[in-house]
Amino acid sequence: MRHFLSLKDYEKSEILEILSIARDLKRDLKAGKPNNSMSGKTLAMIFEKASTRTRVSFEIGAVQLGMHPLFLSARDIQLGRGEPMKDTARVISRMADMTMIRTFAHSRLEEFAAYSDIPVINGLSDDFHPAQLMADYMTIEELGYDDRAVVAWIGDGNNMANSWLMLAAKIGFELRVAAPKGYEIAPKWALLAQTFAAKSGAKLTFGGDPIAAVKGANVVATDVWTSMGQEAQNEKRLKDFDGFGIDDRLMAFADPKALFLHCLPAHRGEEVSESVFERHSQTVFLEAENRLHAQKGIMVWLNGA
Ligand code: CP
Ligand code: NVA
Repeated sequence: MRHFLSLKDYEKSEILEILSIARDLKRDLKAGKPNNSMSGKTLAMIFEKASTRTRVSFEIGAVQLGMHPLFLSARDIQLGRGEPMKDTARVISRMADMTMIRTFAHSRLEEFAAYSDIPVINGLSDDFHPAQLMADYMTIEELGYDDRAVVAWIGDGNNMANSWLMLAAKIGFELRVAAPKGYEIAPKWALLAQTFAAKSGAKLTFGGDPIAAVKGANVVATDVWTSMGQEAQNEKRLKDFDGFGIDDRLMAFADPKALFLHCLPAHRGEEVSESVFERHSQTVFLEAENRLHAQKGIMVWLNGA
């Protein structure tokens, strides 16, 4: 039995296997041949933070696979009134077949997983958002950039940045991170990623200059400057991230065919301009659609693991 908490815990071959399942599921769904191989199983989905894409993709994905999903908002279950993670995990383990959790500290997820007898999927924690990255790499593959991806990450050294880092380190592509001072990727993740990169051949660079990071890159990615749970810092962050917004001027330094990716929700005029966002909206919404297929790939893979 495996959990899906971070790509740091996964081998390249396993990541590619999940993506291959996701591609087959997408192809079959589009061909009108849905796969309901998880019929009769249940997916418990615990949300301690808001969500659109993660909830919709896991819930619809589970239904398409024949499962029954349960949406459990922390506001409505005893977890929100202080029931320990480890007790909630042991209860859900005895009834459901799989759990997806969106939470704050990654350690909460790890505690839940340690007490769970059924697979646990990270639906976003303060440190990682691996389910999103499966959709992001699926999009890169689908558009034919996977063999030559040079990704520039511009912005916060947050859960998305950490996840891009682990993906690049495991798969072996080039990732250039540009973050403002004080918002860099935590050294422990950068060091861990370098150990994976030594095996995969990934080139990982860290700096504070968005132009240097974007120059010649064929994928440019970003995320909000204020993540869920950081709302009180919003005003300070807006000032500190000045110059890190992705606009036409910055995109002009990238490869002319560069993709722009954003996990969404996007804040126009902050991390991305309206013009860049709308020009790349086909890619961004393909990325969003691929959440559905990628999340199904994770569930089917875990079911067989
Ligand atoms: N990208 C993403 O996870 O979106 P939601 O917060 O809407 O789930
Ligand atoms: N970094 C963002 C991602 C949202 C999908 C957050 O954690 O709020």
